[in-house]
Amino acid sequence: MSTLHPDLARVIISEEEIQERVKELAAQIEEDYADVERIMLIGILKGAFIFLADLARALNINHTVDFMAVSSYGKSGAVSGAVRLVLDVREPVVNEHIIIVEDIVDSGNTLSYLYHTLKGRQPASLKTCALLEKTRDSLEVSIDYLGFNIPDVWVVGYGLDYADTHRTLPFVAELKPEVYQ
Ligand code: IMP
Ligand code: MG
Repeated sequence: MSTLHPDLARVIISEEEIQERVKELAAQIEEDYADVERIMLIGILKGAFIFLADLARALNINHTVDFMAVSSYGKSGAVSGAVRLVLDVREPVVNEHIIIVEDIVDSGNTLSYLYHTLKGRQPASLKTCALLEKTRDSLEVSIDYLGFNIPDVWVVGYGLDYADTHRTLPFVAELKPEVYQ
């Protein structure tokens, strides 16, 4: 194995584990939406772009892809604040079967904001999918399709970043605490 970048403590989820889980999630989605004409995947930029690319290509049902982006007020690296929409979908969501595709759910603020924003636009149905969830007891909005639960540490790779770095690693790794604290 090649050596890890010095900012990284350890690999939490390997490339193989991610690829296997993405195929399982796609299979589950195919089954759940077998009777539907098409679904609309809404990826949340930037973090979800790699997960969305793999998930969408693993899906053997009709689907469209669109994007939203949010930013958090008072977000200095690792602290989550109030959410603001900075990019909206290009296509209307009325009567569409939507799945929100997120990289990671921490406090749940981002997912909750997106869920309620889209819910108010009369989609045919609305579900959520996230690659990662940090261990929590209570989330206001549930995750219908979850890749992995991880410990409460800062992770990077497979789309996730720290200050826009380490995003394109093929695995998910824990950032050394001294890098972000
Ligand atoms: P929440 O609103 O607290 O659930 O935070 C979710 C958002 O924070 C995600 O969409 C990520 O952009 C970011 N985030 C939370 N934890 C991490 C992490 O460990 N690594 C990278 N981004 C994270
Ligand atoms: Mg993000």
